[in-house]
Amino acid sequence: MRQTLCARCRPLAGLTRRQVIRPATQQQRRNESTISSDVSTDEQGEVTKKRKPNVIFSGIQPTGVPHLGNYLGALRQWRKLQDDAEPEDRLLFSVVDLHAITMPQDAKVLRLRRREMLAALLAIGLDPEKGSTIFFQSSVPQHTELMWILSCTASMGYLGRMTQWKSKIQMNNKAGDLEDAAMTNLKLGLFSYPVLQAADILVHRATHVPVGDDQRQHLEFARECATNFNHTFKNILVPPETMTTPSPRIMSLTHPDSKMSKSTPNHRSRIIITAPPNEIRSRIMSAVTDSHNGVTYDPEMRPGVANLLELLSQCNNAQESRPLAPDELARQLSGASLKDLKELVAEAVCIELRGVRDRHDEFLNRKGGKWLDEIEAEGAEVARRNAEETMRMVRDAVGLGPGARLI
Ligand code: TRP
Repeated sequence: MRQTLCARCRPLAGLTRRQVIRPATQQQRRNESTISSDVSTDEQGEVTKKRKPNVIFSGIQPTGVPHLGNYLGALRQWRKLQDDAEPEDRLLFSVVDLHAITMPQDAKVLRLRRREMLAALLAIGLDPEKGSTIFFQSSVPQHTELMWILSCTASMGYLGRMTQWKSKIQMNNKAGDLEDAAMTNLKLGLFSYPVLQAADILVHRATHVPVGDDQRQHLEFARECATNFNHTFKNILVPPETMTTPSPRIMSLTHPDSKMSKSTPNHRSRIIITAPPNEIRSRIMSAVTDSHNGVTYDPEMRPGVANLLELLSQCNNAQESRPLAPDELARQLSGASLKDLKELVAEAVCIELRGVRDRHDEFLNRKGGKWLDEIEAEGAEVARRNAEETMRMVRDAVGLGPGARLI
């Protein structure tokens, strides 16, 4: 069925609800996009789709099996992007192990975490057969090569204003004395983390980078790196657009005023995506709420209940119809008890994560573990080829490559 669209809606035609960007500030909006921004209209006002291929890149640190917050906030969107992509689009998803070592890691644990993350990405439905390239960042040396080149035009002042390294060293330095301790504790790798992230994106000439809100600053920096390079050398690098998806803030099940997190010691505060159904049920049934019974949506006063409603809203939308927002669900459930609500949430989460655990375990062990290595090697090969195309131009522009032959 064709619809007549008003001028404001026309550019959004053909997009699913999730691909439409969440409201952002004007400055942010200028650099953000929906995935098919090149939709245009013909003389009759009909929407014609003729867009350039998209290159989508994103990365995730190998910090253990993702939890429900990571899944609903990012990984599920990656799968959706894959499933909605056109054949000519490229999708690259990297397990960013070089970023992981900006904080101390145990080698054995890191080795395991990389594999687990790879298996998790495949288990949630990212699939090389559907066009996704999945690889370890350290398998593609072009990332670090470009990082070095970018770091020669990146400004220390700009990096100094970024917030991530500050929060990471404060974490290890509760005792105070920040001035001196900061400089000693602050490792060069952590400080230059955003330059490597910029290289990840730019080396693949990504047009779109789906990330969470907390990564906006890093994406802005990546655009700055591209512009600096293009200005200093030659117009080669593509400033990427940030794609923030309307990702929910999933809160801790034991302290619903803080985000669900991998690093809090209490396991009951989170649900990992490979949790068996009985564990999912028990975590939800014992989630902290409050002393009122009855279901209302009030994130300020009733964060625990609001979080359950958010989970229900997120996990209730397997069918194509519009998912109900948490406040709508609360209205529908006005006669229900908190126990009823928890039962509904537990059921919905179990359905959403059905099969993930089995696939994850099976992938880890398939062919005695070799299958994962093969998948990664194939992904890395594709990624290296893609990155090498950029690096050839970059080396030439800087004066490091052979350049044009002088005959
Ligand atoms: N910094 C990102 C995070 O912590 C991970 C990341 C590394 C990334 N490189 C990237 C994300 C490139 C998007 C694009 O979540």
